[in-house]
Amino acid sequence: MAHATATADVTALDPQSKRTSSIPEVKAKLLEGKRGLVVGIANESSIAWGCARAFRAFGAEVAVTYLNEKARKYVEPLAQELEAPIIMPLDTRIPGQMEAVFEEISKKWGNLDFLVHSIAFSPKEALHGRVVDVPQDGFAATMDVSCWTFIRMAHLAEPLMPKGGTIFTMTYYGSQMVVKNYNIMGVAKAALECAVRYIAAELGPKGIRVHAISPGPLATRAASGIPEFDALLDKARLQAPTRSLVSIDDVGAATAFLAHDAARLITGETLYVDGGYHIID
Ligand SMILES: NC(=O)c1ccc[n+]([C@@H]2O[C@H](COP(=O)([O-])OP(=O)(O)OC[C@H]3O[C@@H](n4cnc5c(N)ncnc54)[C@H](O)[C@@H]3O)[C@@H](O)[C@H]2O)c1
Repeated sequence: MAHATATADVTALDPQSKRTSSIPEVKAKLLEGKRGLVVGIANESSIAWGCARAFRAFGAEVAVTYLNEKARKYVEPLAQELEAPIIMPLDTRIPGQMEAVFEEISKKWGNLDFLVHSIAFSPKEALHGRVVDVPQDGFAATMDVSCWTFIRMAHLAEPLMPKGGTIFTMTYYGSQMVVKNYNIMGVAKAALECAVRYIAAELGPKGIRVHAISPGPLATRAASGIPEFDALLDKARLQAPTRSLVSIDDVGAATAFLAHDAARLITGETLYVDGGYHIID
């Protein structure tokens, strides 16, 4: 449990400042001794990178994956920065790769304290059309990568969390409200949030907590696949109660907080890290 106080640099509270400097300033190693897997780092804009960096800054050890050889050169230097003892390829559409990652963790660490699932995908033909027109294969691919992989990763993490743990996934407000251009991904995120609640209920008796984190819009590679994404950013900036956009560090710090033992009775949540945007009409 915590005994020290996190000394996050106060510049973190100033939206005008260079916010990325805040997390490395954290002095209290509130997650020291914990070990976790972060899936979804593509580059230094990835939400998964914000999470991995926050967990590491709070003292946790972090294992990471990269999608394929093309992605490896971007992820490897970030893994080095994290001093990640495990870095492995993981394309969930390649049979066996997911199992191999969890087997390696089991061999090397024996157990796992947290898992961050931060991946989503929808083929262009599916994502860019109306929900009512979506073809079966586009729907299946969207649901497979964006929802089923979370369910499967939770399944593989469960035996590695005999003393409890925390499992996270990333969702978006387009699951709750019709957000222009979010389309079939909104349907997948609604299923994902529902899966979070069921799995939280199923694994809760074992001390395993499960959360969806719902960040406001962030300019990442995945986001670049959504038409008129800049309009979403502008709207968030103007309407969020905080009048600011979130950063990947904001998302990382909130996620890391929920992995702390102090949050042991919080589970099944969808936590908005969006400057309060979701409460505004
Ligand atoms: N960017 C936003 O505005 C925003 C807002 C809310 C939620 N999210 C969610 O956050 C998560 C991370 O996205 P991001 O915005 O950081 O973008 P990103 O492009 O940095 O990350 C997406 C990741 O998904 C991975 N991925 C895609 N298909 C995969 C597969 N078959 N196997 C393994 N990995 C695969 C990519 O390699 C990449 O690392 C996604 O679930 C996204 O829907 C994003």
